[in-house]
Amino acid sequence: MRRIGVLTSGGDAPGMNAAVRAVVRKAIYHGLEVVGFRRGYHGLVYGEYSFMQLGSVADIIHRGGTVLLTARAPEFLEPEGRQKALGIIRESGIDALVVIGGDGSFRGAMALEKAGFPAVGIPGTIDNDIDRTDYSVGFDTAVNNATDAINKVRDTATSHERVYVMEVMGRTAGHIALAAGLAGGAESILVPEVPFDLDEVCERLQRGVKRGKLHSIILVAEGAASGLKVAEEIKERTEMDTRVTILGHLQRGGTPTAFDRMLASRLGAAAVDLLLSGCHGQMVGFVDNTVKSTTFSEALAKQKPFPEDLYRLATILAI
Ligand code: F6P
Repeated sequence: MRRIGVLTSGGDAPGMNAAVRAVVRKAIYHGLEVVGFRRGYHGLVYGEYSFMQLGSVADIIHRGGTVLLTARAPEFLEPEGRQKALGIIRESGIDALVVIGGDGSFRGAMALEKAGFPAVGIPGTIDNDIDRTDYSVGFDTAVNNATDAINKVRDTATSHERVYVMEVMGRTAGHIALAAGLAGGAESILVPEVPFDLDEVCERLQRGVKRGKLHSIILVAEGAASGLKVAEEIKERTEMDTRVTILGHLQRGGTPTAFDRMLASRLGAAAVDLLLSGCHGQMVGFVDNTVKSTTFSEALAKQKPFPEDLYRLATILAI
């Protein structure tokens, strides 16, 4: 192996820059050349790439977003787009590709593998919805962003004795909602993985008022329900003063936490090691505090299990 490529794809995640830095520096350390593709698979299809040096990744470890830019590239899903990408791969002279992204990005990597080109993956998504890794790069920062927002909303919620419905991201998964809800002490957490009953949520709110609670926070994962609708229902059923905050892309921005930077650095280096050892078609993950690799097909085979014990704990503590 002489030259590898790297790209970030799908929704950006804080810590992707630290992962790019680790891939570039670890590869150069081992005498490899590195080509960075811009805008994810779009760069692969349209030939947007350049050689990366040690200095190309200087001063980025603490920055959110991705210096390689990212995109969701529909062209690559078409056979014609993939053929063009394989042509660009040949032109760039890379022997393998490191893909940093979520499940859609890994499906793209699998398509390259199927066409006979070696690829490895680094899980990078705030949703933390990829199986076979306890954490994906960006999740910890997003959870911290959401928890910080809960703290702030709590101040004004108390002053006005209000109910706040806060909607968080996560696509079809409730991992961000659970982690931020537990860390932020939310009264109820609504996630797609666990059926919920709004009457129960309202009863819980009313019990809280009876024992003197000045405010309540209901955390709603976007995949479970619309925060606006939940707030409307609560207002109608309880007549409590209710407001909504949709955190949106605020969760995805900002400086990555130390945890995300360390995770990204370890996984970036491990991805290069994996390629150097002759392995590909795999994702590097973090399981029980250790870096472990698993095949793309295993990682994508099923939905990541939801930590129901943590969910129960959050419910008990918010009694
Ligand atoms: O997958 C990351 C994520 O932020 C999801 O949580 C969210 O549903 C989606 O991306 C938003 O996508 P976009 O940035 O394209 O609006």
